[in-house]
Amino acid sequence: MSDASEWVPDSRDLGDLESAAHACRGCELWEPATQVVFSSGERSARLVLVGEQPGDQEDRSGEPFVGPAGRLLDEALVAAGIDRAAAYLTNAVKHFRFERRGSRRIHKTPGVGHVTACRPWLGAELEAVSPAAVVALGATAARSVLGRPVKIGEVRGRVLDEAAVPVLVTAHPSAVLRLRGDAGYDEAFGALVSDLRLAAPFGR
Ligand code: URA
Ligand code: SF4
Repeated sequence: MSDASEWVPDSRDLGDLESAAHACRGCELWEPATQVVFSSGERSARLVLVGEQPGDQEDRSGEPFVGPAGRLLDEALVAAGIDRAAAYLTNAVKHFRFERRGSRRIHKTPGVGHVTACRPWLGAELEAVSPAAVVALGATAARSVLGRPVKIGEVRGRVLDEAAVPVLVTAHPSAVLRLRGDAGYDEAFGALVSDLRLAAPFGR
């Protein structure tokens, strides 16, 4: 499979990267999606937060983390003392992968091939922003950031020093959201917040 590299410009201006991403055909996910969802935040951000892929609402609006998972992330960031507006938010995969069921579009986890294809964009973004630390939200983000598969339970809760920048891996907010109303929710939300607290000092 091809990847995004032929669409990634040499420029490390975030506006140039985002405009170029609209034309990306590095994998087949661009076609059924509404639009690319690139990122939010400034190049001066000290923390980069990486999610999995845009969801239904992000696909429609063009902005990352504006749907239900984004609202849960907002709550967790506030509790952890991280200012979302001062962070750079992006995704490992920049087009929404879904399955149609009637009029509904159901989220489908991106495959390893999609993560690999889209990885050149994340590389360019990390060069542009050059953050003090990266937070990988969930296994898909962690795979892209670290370049290897990990199990969240084995790597969460400490800052990893194996990449060029310190990396904190934690749960994806959607995984916590799925527990809402269940007995495990408070614990899962608390664990997400306590992981994020480890990244907070890098954001200052
Ligand atoms: N989930 C993600 O991983 N990213 C988004 O932008 C929205 C939901
Ligand atoms: Fe390009 Fe990534 Fe979209 Fe695939 S998901 S078309 S690699 S931007």
